[in-house]
Amino acid sequence: MIIAPSVLSLDYTRFNEQVDILNKRVEWIHFDVMDGHFVPNLTFGPDILKAFRRSSDLFMDVHLMVTDPSFFADVFMKAGADQITFHYEAVEEDKIPELIDKIHAGGCKAGISIKPKTEVKVLEPFLKDVDLVLVMSVEPGFGGQSFIENSYNKIRELDKLRKEKDLAYKIQVDGGVNSANAGKLVASGVDVLVAGSFVFKGDMEANIQSLYDAEKK
Ligand code: DX5
Ligand code: ZN
Repeated sequence: MIIAPSVLSLDYTRFNEQVDILNKRVEWIHFDVMDGHFVPNLTFGPDILKAFRRSSDLFMDVHLMVTDPSFFADVFMKAGADQITFHYEAVEEDKIPELIDKIHAGGCKAGISIKPKTEVKVLEPFLKDVDLVLVMSVEPGFGGQSFIENSYNKIRELDKLRKEKDLAYKIQVDGGVNSANAGKLVASGVDVLVAGSFVFKGDMEANIQSLYDAEKK
């Protein structure tokens, strides 16, 4: 199980200290890129990712919540991203294969994400080409929201499809993840847990450890 803390919730007055803990305890860093159009919030540009890159060798997992993922994919790939995940809802279906190809040509892994109200079945044509599927378990836009229970069904469906079709995409969940639901999420098929407020509030090392421990229960 991979933990991908969302640096949306990082305390930027304690950047070095918190990034040091991430460097020691997790494999991925999750960047929530928001444009104020696809979602009603605005976050980082590529220079912020470059600053993390100077302080960390971790896998840089970029989640684009933007209406123009093709443009944002280019700038974040140049900034040092390892993976670019875009939203199914933001791209015309017939343009999705070329966006996946472009991300791969840029040397990155490619992920596709669905919002809570979008059904898994719309992703079927693209599953063979992506490295990761991200199930949003809150409406994208803000950290600190409550987990939507129906996400378990979507994760199980994606896990079943992966086995049936003999595919290797990772399943990632994002929104409202904590030590109380992490175990059930992994048991349902999740490989990568994104967690923002749960990781960065209070004792980060203990919080991260409690996510690892939840997997074993
Ligand atoms: C929401 C973002 C999430 C968010 C998760 O739009 O995609 O990554 O930061 O935050 P928590 O873990 O606080 O729900
Ligand atoms: Zn995210």
